[in-house]
Amino acid sequence: MSIPESIDSSRLPRHIAIIMDGNGRWAKERGEDRVYGHYEGVVSVREIVDACGAIGIGYLTLYAFSAENWNRPKAEVDALMELLVNTIRKEVDDLKKNNVRMHVIGDFESLPEICQKELNEAIEITAGNTGLNLILALSYSSRDEIARAARVLAAKAVEGTIDIKDINDEAIAQNLYTHNFPDPELMIRTSGECRISNFLLYQLAYAELYFTNVHWPDFRKPHLYEALLNYQQRERRFGKTSEQINMTNPTQS
Ligand code: IPE
Ligand code: IPE
Ligand code: MG
Repeated sequence: MSIPESIDSSRLPRHIAIIMDGNGRWAKERGEDRVYGHYEGVVSVREIVDACGAIGIGYLTLYAFSAENWNRPKAEVDALMELLVNTIRKEVDDLKKNNVRMHVIGDFESLPEICQKELNEAIEITAGNTGLNLILALSYSSRDEIARAARVLAAKAVEGTIDIKDINDEAIAQNLYTHNFPDPELMIRTSGECRISNFLLYQLAYAELYFTNVHWPDFRKPHLYEALLNYQQRERRFGKTSEQINMTNPTQS
């Protein structure tokens, strides 16, 4: 399925961030264990990664496991970690072939060693790729990320390597996990929950937020295209007026 004509391929977001939610409910609705939903969610991940690569999206951040998700029952956490390892192992060759470069954001050291090893290998194997940047948010907490940045900047101020007046929004952005990536223009959350759940709080400052009732294991290309179409119908004003945005000659402002 190619991209629908109604989508303007010259106005796609550079960076899409997705809160992949609803796996557990999707499975329960089918009388299955929550973990079955996580397995099926991987099928959606594959399809959405392929679609984003094919249409030329630069960056796709997937919220796969939050720092708060460690508080789930141990059996579910273990299953998720195992699924992560197996999926990376299985998909890494295709990622390489499809020119996808993998990155991880979050508290990497808190992941089981086997996950760290698989992830590091995949990051290394795909490091030379120049297509889609696939960023997995794992053991990720945005508040923790901001606190880390504050600690780094405070330490530099104490050392005297940064002047306090230079601690501005750019300095904070430069010390977030995401310092090499542009901010997402579009954030999608599946499964009907309309909250951010500690995801990219700083980076989403001006993102367009899109919420859909579709559970993640059902989220496929047509749903992504629907989100992109919706995104393109919005007017992004960044504090300005609509008249300013639509003005063809900016000198008349
Ligand atoms: C998202 O689905 C996947 C993770 C958080 C790992 P959930 O597991 O949160 O599914 P629901 O929200 O309980 O249905
Ligand atoms: C957010 O989903 C985390 C991920 C999708 C990985 P949750 O299902 O954990 O969020 P809450 O608890 O409903 O806010
Ligand atoms: Mg959930």
